[in-house]
Amino acid sequence: MTDNLELSHQQERAFQPQRLSAPRDFMQPAALLKPELSLVLEIGAGKGKHALSFAMQNSDKYLIAIERTRNKFEAFKKLAAQQNSANLTAIHADAIAWIVHAIAPNSIDSIYILYPNPEQHNPNQQWLNMPFFEFLLSRLQAGGKIILATNIETYMDNAEQQANEVWCLPNTRSQVASSSQRTHFEVKYLARQETCWELSMKKPKGYQTRFDKWTTDTLTI
Ligand SMILES: C[S@@+](CC[C@H](N)C(=O)[O-])C[C@H]1O[C@@H](n2cnc3c(N)ncnc32)[C@H](O)[C@@H]1O
Repeated sequence: MTDNLELSHQQERAFQPQRLSAPRDFMQPAALLKPELSLVLEIGAGKGKHALSFAMQNSDKYLIAIERTRNKFEAFKKLAAQQNSANLTAIHADAIAWIVHAIAPNSIDSIYILYPNPEQHNPNQQWLNMPFFEFLLSRLQAGGKIILATNIETYMDNAEQQANEVWCLPNTRSQVASSSQRTHFEVKYLARQETCWELSMKKPKGYQTRFDKWTTDTLTI
């Protein structure tokens, strides 16, 4: 990676984590205090279809799945309690504030963002357009991955372009198999014969962000 590429995301407006207060009733999950398994995040987990099967199929990983919308989270929480996986925590919060207060730098193995809100009228809110994305990358370990899926072609085109030109992340774009059933939205879109795409982005070794040492008082690293 050249110096120019390395610095290109650092020319963007910086995210300001110090401005975000901790979510209401914030508590650091015990799994984060002394992680024994690789940590995985899911942002916008909906009713938890992916989270529940991921936890079941990956006993060597600990998944923290975050959902902001109360009714979806309540459905997820109920199913998570029934399944009772030791390697899954469901969090009701805005993922941005929660991650700022809970997650140490360089600590996450992979992050799933599956069928995010399209934000077609407010592209600044698309995940790869947000200054927060640099903070999110600072939480990922070198070699860690962010997996994004969407049915919106323009969302995927923009995400791919941002991954290449702003974030300088090696990435692979692929079409989601028509038999895939990871999330409720994926099931719905594929049943309508829509094309769904996935972008898998990797954080290279030596990648630098402006938040590599940034923590709140609640965090120990
Ligand atoms: C289109 S839904 C997809 C849900 C699920 N991933 C699926 O594919 O079925 C997007 C979800 O992301 C959640 N979401 C959006 N922004 C969020 C944020 N900042 N923090 C947590 N959840 C968020 C929304 O509440 C919504 O449930």
